[in-house]
Amino acid sequence: MTEKQYSGSTGREVKGKNIDAKKINKPQSTPSKPQISDNNLSSSTSSSIEGYNDYIKAGKIASQVVQFAKSIIKKDLPLLEIANNVEAKIIELGGKLAFPVNLSINEIAAHYTPTFNDTTKAHGLLKVDIGVHVNGHIADTAFSIDLENSDENKKLIESAELALKNAISILNTKTKIRDIGKEIEKAIKSKGFQPIINLCGHSLEPYQLHSGVTIPNCDNHQEAEISSSVFAIEPFSTAGFGCVRDGKPSGIYHLEKEGSVRDSFAREVLAFIEEEYQTLPFSSRQIYKKFGSRGLLALKRLEDAGLLHHYPQLIEKSGAKVAQAEHTILLTEKEKIVTTA
Ligand code: CO
Repeated sequence: MTEKQYSGSTGREVKGKNIDAKKINKPQSTPSKPQISDNNLSSSTSSSIEGYNDYIKAGKIASQVVQFAKSIIKKDLPLLEIANNVEAKIIELGGKLAFPVNLSINEIAAHYTPTFNDTTKAHGLLKVDIGVHVNGHIADTAFSIDLENSDENKKLIESAELALKNAISILNTKTKIRDIGKEIEKAIKSKGFQPIINLCGHSLEPYQLHSGVTIPNCDNHQEAEISSSVFAIEPFSTAGFGCVRDGKPSGIYHLEKEGSVRDSFAREVLAFIEEEYQTLPFSSRQIYKKFGSRGLLALKRLEDAGLLHHYPQLIEKSGAKVAQAEHTILLTEKEKIVTTA
């Protein structure tokens, strides 16, 4: 799941007093920063990143869920049915949702998930973005599928996939962040399309989907090296402007600020969100499943009180179609593992 860059900033947008993910994460016997232990003389690298095994597990589940999703998705299947089945599969395989499955069609680049009463049917160029976590350790992966037998769609999809493949191929801990973006831009332009420059990949930390480092889709002049870390690379390609704008509210939220509200039922919903999702994104559909329509009113209360961030849908500025590809990579001095491959 991507993040939009606001007004050229290179880091995560922070507004108000942000919630500290660590405070409400219960399984916190370990710090949430990846622990890079270069002085660990053990030949095993499995201890160099905290939660290494869980990242691998989450990646395997995500990869199986991608295969499952590809096997069920057909033109005209309701998005709601796809979302419910894909999310159920994540749970069945022993994972939890790192975010609600995103099913974004055509010019909607990202952040569309069906509402509880959604009637949209799969069509056009569909992006499927899947997030799995195991004890907070996240796997984030996406693919695009052409549901209208269009050569243009297929070429767009190929360009995003090529960009992802090429970007992964140049990675080591010394790779400059700008060079990842440069590689993506080069691949997409070589196919005659534009990368979406205000959408990017991101570093991952336990229970943090966007933990601070941005992986650009063009050369952003970030001289910093990627170093040992876990991160998602997600190229988006389009025949349009190569830029997205905010669209309608998506029904995807995340807990942003600590606080309370007067309404006792809204407090109950807040407690559920803290327990179930912590600071990870969730959807109004999930709240509806648990609490019914009262839950949706409670969400509104929590949003009005400034406790929740409500993601907008992200729409290509010229209205052109968008393709996306994404993998999560675990990178250490010794290893480069595409966890979601
Ligand atoms: Co992502």
